[in-house]
Amino acid sequence: MSVVSAKEMLLKAHKEGYGVAQININNLEWIKSVLTTVEELKSPVILGVSEGAAKYMGGYKNVMGMVHALDEFYNVTVPVAVHLDHGTYEGAYKALEAGFTSIMFDGSHYPFEENLAKTKEIVAACHAKGVSVEAEVGAIGGEEDGVIGGGEIADPEECRQIAATGVDMFAAGIGNIHGQYPPNWKGLDFDVLEEVERVTNHVPLVLHGGSGIPDDMVRKAITMGVSKINVNTECQLVFAAATRKYIEEKKDLQGKGYDPRKLLKPGAEAIKDVVREKLTLFGSVNKA
Ligand code: 13P
Repeated sequence: MSVVSAKEMLLKAHKEGYGVAQININNLEWIKSVLTTVEELKSPVILGVSEGAAKYMGGYKNVMGMVHALDEFYNVTVPVAVHLDHGTYEGAYKALEAGFTSIMFDGSHYPFEENLAKTKEIVAACHAKGVSVEAEVGAIGGEEDGVIGGGEIADPEECRQIAATGVDMFAAGIGNIHGQYPPNWKGLDFDVLEEVERVTNHVPLVLHGGSGIPDDMVRKAITMGVSKINVNTECQLVFAAATRKYIEEKKDLQGKGYDPRKLLKPGAEAIKDVVREKLTLFGSVNKA
């Protein structure tokens, strides 16, 4: 039984100077690929689940059912948190009820006072159940499941107040965006990151939009207090590319190549490669 809150794994990562990957899951293949890889590399992990992905997978309860059953099936011993990604106010309560072990309440689109009040309330409800909480200030740019963020840079005073609600991890916009980075992207704003780290009283920080950020910037962010890095798009891109290759090579037309267990295998293997690469870059291998 290794399904736990994200709190302890993040505090350990923060103290020892490495990052924990949040790998977003989209279906059965994703969960299998991530769980078997983290077990192989003895790394903690956070499974990110957006509200859209939860709906696709048949709801929050089904997500928890799949994770618990696969955790047992593969004898997973490393800590695994199941985390609601960019949760709405209503979604946060539903995921909490379904047994999620970590919740992100993304109130960044509310007027600040409302974000603060709702974050406070959700922190109390989650902590009463031993569930960790992530909050956000300053919308992360790009599109995530239909939610389009403008990529604002976070306001330090707002960061201070939200972090003071007792959240276990904190996400701030520092120029990062979801999805693929445009060629003219300016890079992460390390001055803002430094300021956010200081005003949030050293709470573990979260870097969203982890796909496609150059390795040296990721390493630098980790040295500056980032303890959780979210990755989704890169896994989706390699899954699609591997599946495309299989079909373009007409492998689905050979023998029983049309069997979904064969058809989806190259994609599932490609996800494992990305997860291995990220765990190594973030420094969480053998940290379970
Ligand atoms: P990417 O899809 O850009 O990797 O971002 C993932 C993320 O931040 C999920 O919250």
